[in-house]
Amino acid sequence: MTTRLCVFDAYGTLFDVDGAARIAASGPDGQELADSWPQLSATWRRKQLEYTWLRAAAGHHADFGAVTRDALDWAMEDAGLADDRLRARLLALYLELPVFAEVPDALRALAHQGMACAILSNGTPEMLASAVRAAGVQDLFQAVLSVEDVGVFKPAGAVYDMVGAKLGVARQDVLFISSNGWDICAGAAYGFRTLWVNRAGAPPDRLFGRPDASVRDLRGLLAQLGDF
Ligand code: LAC
Repeated sequence: MTTRLCVFDAYGTLFDVDGAARIAASGPDGQELADSWPQLSATWRRKQLEYTWLRAAAGHHADFGAVTRDALDWAMEDAGLADDRLRARLLALYLELPVFAEVPDALRALAHQGMACAILSNGTPEMLASAVRAAGVQDLFQAVLSVEDVGVFKPAGAVYDMVGAKLGVARQDVLFISSNGWDICAGAAYGFRTLWVNRAGAPPDRLFGRPDASVRDLRGLLAQLGDF
């Protein structure tokens, strides 16, 4: 095993981005989302990612909190939802998204073996600190790296450069773990070793770079490390 550092994407990989709409729909004011929350959540996520890519390509950065709000506003208007309380509730829930069920045990198993772990995410430092704290996994990461330090979103190379610059680990000694196919392609092309957490069972993206391995979730991650 030559991996010296496991670097995790955050949203969609550790944290369930559908959690906000799902939890809001089951709450006391959630009737208007009862049937439509999966659609709203999918549109919100799609626009959020599109806005990050477009802002990175155009050189017009805004932080991930602003992008997340803009994407929600688009998704709510598209769905015919005009409800400020619901908007506020969804944004508050986004700061405390649930972790996927297997994540804490997978992280603890890595820590138990002495494997260093970090997060590399589009999220702002505040968003990431909030999510990590809410999940109770803050002690399991050596570092939480936010793109705000470089002012551009993934998949800009400057983002992946942060791992070497801040943590001093060569790219070939990093196992990059993401559920986002495009993030994995970019990480692979950059020179990380890559594990795609293909939670959705999606086809691989036809981009520059391919994952070294794919799994459906993070169960058995420690055993997987032997392959890298
Ligand atoms: C992140 C997004 C891509 O956490 O999910 O960086």
